[in-house]
Order: sequence, then C-alpha cells, then structure tokens
Amino acid sequence: MCAVDKTAIGFLGLGAYVPERVLTNYDLEQMVDTSNDWIVTRTGIRERRICAPGEGAVAIATESARRALEDAKLAVDDIDLIICCTFTSETLCPSAACQVQRNLGATRPIPAFDLAAACSGFIYGCSVAASFIRSGVYRRVLVIGVDAISKFIDWSDRNTCVLFADGGGAAVLGQVEEGHGLLGQSLGADGSGADAIRLLSSGVADPFSATAMNGHRSTITMNGHDVFKFATRILGTAVEEALADAGQGLKAADLDLIIPHQANVRIIESAAKKLKLPMDRFVINIDKFGNTSAGTVPLAMNDARQDGRLKPGTLFAVVAFGGGLTYAASIWRW
Ligand code: UT7
Repeated sequence: MCAVDKTAIGFLGLGAYVPERVLTNYDLEQMVDTSNDWIVTRTGIRERRICAPGEGAVAIATESARRALEDAKLAVDDIDLIICCTFTSETLCPSAACQVQRNLGATRPIPAFDLAAACSGFIYGCSVAASFIRSGVYRRVLVIGVDAISKFIDWSDRNTCVLFADGGGAAVLGQVEEGHGLLGQSLGADGSGADAIRLLSSGVADPFSATAMNGHRSTITMNGHDVFKFATRILGTAVEEALADAGQGLKAADLDLIIPHQANVRIIESAAKKLKLPMDRFVINIDKFGNTSAGTVPLAMNDARQDGRLKPGTLFAVVAFGGGLTYAASIWRW
C-alpha cells in the first residue's frame, strides 16, 4: 500500500473494443466435454468474443485507444506516454504500445511501453500513469488494457477454454477537477502463487502455425482451485485496503459502484458478501465477454458509463486479481 497525493488525477476519456466473432457456450459444447448449463452456473459466462484470423491484441488495443482519444476529444499527439497492459501481444518486441503509437499516426516520439501484470494490468497501469502525472513528468497518459487469450488457449482443455476470451479498453488519464479522480489504491503480488497461471512464452504472431514453435504451441495453464481461493480472499481485502488508503473515513458502503475483474461471477458474489454489499452495486458483464484478462476492467467501465451507472460524481472502486499472482484496487470519484 502507498499513500496517494491528493492532486486530482482522473479519467479524461474511455473507449473499448471487442472482436466481432461470438463464441457461445453451445459452440463450446461441440468442441469439448462441457455444457452451457455447467458454464453458466459455475462461471456466469454465456458467450465471449474471439479474434478473427490476423486480428490480435494490437488491433484491439489500437481501436480501444482511438475510441478513448475521441471520447477525450484529444489527438494522439496530445498524449505524453502510452502504456499497453497485456501479456498476449503478437510480438514481445516491438511492444504492443509502440505498434499502437504507429497505428494511431503519432508524429511525435511519444514514449511507449508494455506492462505485464496479467488481469491486474489495467489498474497497475493507471497507477503508473497517475504517478507520472503527479510528479509533473507527463500531463496526459494513454493506458490500454487488452488481451487476446484465444491465441494461447488449448481448445481441448475445458479448464481454461470456457473462461478466457479477447477484448479490451483504454483510458486517457490527466488532471481533473479538485475532489474528483484517484483517491486511494492498493497494489500487490504474491509470487508464492506464481505457478497457478502460466504462459511459458508469448509473442507468436501466428500461434496456430505448425512451425511457429517447432510444432509446439505455448498455451495457458491454470490451477483453477488455487486461483479461486486467492481471488475470494483478495478481492474484498484489496478494496478495503484501497479505501483505507483514501482516508476520509470512507467505507465500502459509501461506494456507489464496484467494477471488478470479470473472472467468475461466484468470485464477485463472494467479494460482495465480504464487503457486505448488494450485488446490484457491482458491474457485471462476464455473461457477454468472459474473462479478457487486462481487458475486463476498462471494458466494464465503458459498459457502466454507457449504461449511465458511471457518471460525474460517482464514487467507485476498480479491483482485479490474476497471474503472478497479482492484485490491485483503486478508489476514484468520476
Ligand atoms: O483471471 C484470473 C483467471 N482465473 C480464474 O479466476 C479462475 C478461478 N477459478 C475458477 O473460476 C474455477 O475454479 C473454475 C471455473 C476454473 C472451475 O470451477 P469449479 O467450481 O472449481 O469446478 P471444479 O474444478 O471443482 O470441478 C467440478 C466438476 C468436476 O467434475 P467432478 O469431479 O465433480 O465429476 C470437473 O471435472 O466440474 C467438472 N468440470 C467441468 N465440467 C464441465 C470442470 N470443468 C468443466 C467444464 N465443463 N468446463
């Protein structure tokens, strides 16, 4: 935990993008030994989006960023830093962030880098952005949270293939009106759980090609039980730590909205119980998009904004956990 300077740093614009192709639970029934009923009751997922051939994390990141800039009424050259939070980019070098900078047509040498904190990536990225802005180094930072996990799925592994999906979102951060923006945060990692979610290598532009990995494609593996245990413990705790960091006597009951990582609706229900909050205080869109890792939080923020639940004055928490095992929560007033 670390104290947040009270300089008002918040969201100037938001955008999100998901691939067009829909993969339903019924489609998965044809691919692996599972059922729509099992997936809905055990996870809350009904369908998810999957990249078209040739589409990947960079394309999702570029379109999300373009929409966030449009929402902020800014051009790419108004941005001082680009952070792309992902662990499933097509290439390890160049970074996804540099490719987004090129795709957006930047004419200035805007610094750009990727940040890998798995599903906690977007909240980590917003924290890094806020630190740069608070210290006066940069004025406006574009933070993108995106993953294209379908590229790294073993489609015969029902433990993972029913959960993960592709999509993402982006935000422009900068100075906002006093009393709004980032109020508190809690970032953490428990490396003792490092083996719970693993992807041995990334950066394969065409992971389906037989020659890409000498015939072996790197796919994601997960110990679902260990992650579930960690998640149910950490989600509520991280929000409470971020509230304590915000000070002002803020309590969970004061939050208008909680925007959690969309990994499993049962994990969100357990956080609601721990925080003693009704489920209608949580933003849930896992039914439509599944788990897009670093993409879930900006995607859910964007949905909440479009539904009118996230509006000027809303006091909200974002919270996530994931591979690493990492976790992150922050408290904001829109
Ligand atoms: O972003 C972070 C990423 N990861 C997570 O957040 C994952 C956290 N973990 C989970 O969400 C859950 O552990 C899973 C959804 C992965 C699994 O749910 P579960 O309730 O822990 O199921 P389970 O592994 O205990 O399996 C229960 C039963 C087993 O059958 P038996 O032994 O009771 O006959 C499994 O073989 O369900 C079976 N099963 C399935 N059945 C149909 C496991 N996966 C499936 C499946 N379809 N996809």
